[in-house]
Amino acid sequence: MKICVINGPNLQLLGIREPDVYGKITLDDIVARMKNLAKNFKNLKVEFFQSNNEGDIVDKIGNLYNSGCDGIIINPAAYTHTSIAIYDALKAVNIPTIEVHISNIYKRESFRQHSVTAGACLGQISGLGITGYECALSALVDYINNNSENSKE
Ligand code: DQA
Repeated sequence: MKICVINGPNLQLLGIREPDVYGKITLDDIVARMKNLAKNFKNLKVEFFQSNNEGDIVDKIGNLYNSGCDGIIINPAAYTHTSIAIYDALKAVNIPTIEVHISNIYKRESFRQHSVTAGACLGQISGLGITGYECALSALVDYINNNSENSKE
């Protein structure tokens, strides 16, 4: 099973970016924690991608079609609130996707309280910090195992 983790703009700055909101964890910490968790699942490969550019994220999602990717975990960051292009890309490839936010977007500024992209996802986890990514990984593996024809972990 292959899962791709996509992180959007400014998430490369985790650790120094508004630590009161996002904590002190870095993107490398997230990658390390997810790789560690992935060891618990047989034959699970996790790939990571981060970009500050909407088009590159749209290209990445499009290229996952027919690539053997079984699931996507995405934190579209600020594009969550604006990107019909990312929403359309997720709908187009039709790969089960979980949206993750480190902060609770529903407790923040009103412009963050709506997700354009969540409507293309299985579900959304918001406000659990780094744990949200780990929950998303476990939930997605479970979902894929229960819903794919030749289910393999
Ligand atoms: C975020 C929330 C977004 O509103 C913000 O633009 C981000 C990070 C989060 O993970 O909490 O960049 O997606």
